[in-house]
Amino acid sequence: MNTDGFKASGPIGVFDSGYGGLSVLREIQKRLPQYDYLYLGDNARAPYGTRSFDIVYRFTLEAVRYMFERGCHLVILACNTASAKALRSIQQNDLPLIDPDRRVLGVIRPTVEKVGEITRSGNVGLVGTPGTVKSQSYDMEIAKLYPDFHLYSQPCPMWVPLVEYKEFDSPGADYFVKQELDRLMSRQPGIDALILGCTHYPLLYDKIVKYVPGSVSIISQGKITADSLADYLNRHPEMEVKCSKGGNTTYLTTENPEKFADLAAVFLDRSVDVEHAELSC
Ligand code: DGL
Repeated sequence: MNTDGFKASGPIGVFDSGYGGLSVLREIQKRLPQYDYLYLGDNARAPYGTRSFDIVYRFTLEAVRYMFERGCHLVILACNTASAKALRSIQQNDLPLIDPDRRVLGVIRPTVEKVGEITRSGNVGLVGTPGTVKSQSYDMEIAKLYPDFHLYSQPCPMWVPLVEYKEFDSPGADYFVKQELDRLMSRQPGIDALILGCTHYPLLYDKIVKYVPGSVSIISQGKITADSLADYLNRHPEMEVKCSKGGNTTYLTTENPEKFADLAAVFLDRSVDVEHAELSC
């Protein structure tokens, strides 16, 4: 680890395989504007959603180490696929060896905690990448917190590419969004809460709303994660003092910065400067 990693305070890291985490970062910046942030999108190796466990774990660990080296003491995996496939191993096996005082948090637990406040029927739908659905991470968290609930999961392999290729407003998006939601709702018409279990999906929100019954509450992760981070920092003053407060965000991508800036502007509703980051492969 280089000397940056040992600075007394540093930015809060926000990681995603690509652009999706920006939907989370945006809400975090709104809720906690006083902190500095370091966003990293591993666009050169995205999407993660169709990759194997081992690969997602290795890529995520490389990203976390890199963010620690850039001075982060706390990293949020703003990616369901990375949270599902890598978070537990990193927390349990890697952090004690790298630095037991640093923390990595994910998006799945806070989302599931919220579900209990929203569903009346206990029939909960989940849309996510094939990797997130296959990991059964949501099933396990739901079973732990709400053993009486039933989770119905629908993998949506086309939704991330629709967003990444800026097709989220197109008739093609209507076709694929309707197709997956019809499949999900036909399995359990009593679903009354739908988790958007992928940070890319808020960009498909207008389409999703069109194709689920009005009785279904849609659970999007940006605000939930921001509230959960605020709560975490309140409960952990020893970490809070290590988060630098300048209100600045650095945006990094492992792909081409201009290309990243182009779609980042859609997620953030404003343009930003982006730098290239080189992770070891
Ligand atoms: N944004 C990521 C998530 O929340 C998925 C994107 C990908 O497949 O890389 O799961």
